[in-house]
Amino acid sequence: MKILKMAITSMAFVLATTIAPMAPAQQTDTKPLYERLGGLKGVTVVVDDFINRLVANKTLNKNSAINAGRKSSPAPYLKFQVAQLICELSGGPCKYTGQAMKESHTHLNISEKEWDVMAKEFQKSLDKFKVPAAEQKELFDMVGKTKADIVVRK
Ligand code: HEM
Repeated sequence: MKILKMAITSMAFVLATTIAPMAPAQQTDTKPLYERLGGLKGVTVVVDDFINRLVANKTLNKNSAINAGRKSSPAPYLKFQVAQLICELSGGPCKYTGQAMKESHTHLNISEKEWDVMAKEFQKSLDKFKVPAAEQKELFDMVGKTKADIVVRK
């Protein structure tokens, strides 16, 4: 019995000393994306620039439905709603209270090409504020999930 106890104790010691030093190297950054973006300050600064680019984009404004949408939803309102949404989706403390993506975009008749134009503008804002590549990818994956609800034609 005593020998068995000693064997278990020494096995536990060997396991603890071999696994413990490996643990930190295997750990990834578990901070929520929201925090890695710099919290609400980081999110709002990027969204502000992004919406400024979108509302000024000539290709998007050629679509008369998008252009009309700009009038019914002024830029400051869009900035507020989009910031709330990104804050919530990235793990922040906000609660998005706007309309669902399908509801707010179907009537805008958005095409694949217009989606790509939007994505390029988003990329420019992320680059401007030096959002690192890993966080950019997470954001694009997150935003990409809304595409099926937003794009309604080729
Ligand atoms: C080509 C891409 C897009 C265009 C042209 C676009 C344009 C617009 C326009 C014009 C409105 C106002 C609609 C109206 O009042 O009739 C709107 C609303 C909104 N958009 Fe987009 N959008 C695009 C993609 C996205 C994406 C990718 C997101 C977020 C992931 C987003 C989030 C929102 C939100 C949160 C609202 C406000 C919803 C509400 O009124 O409650 N949009 N968008």
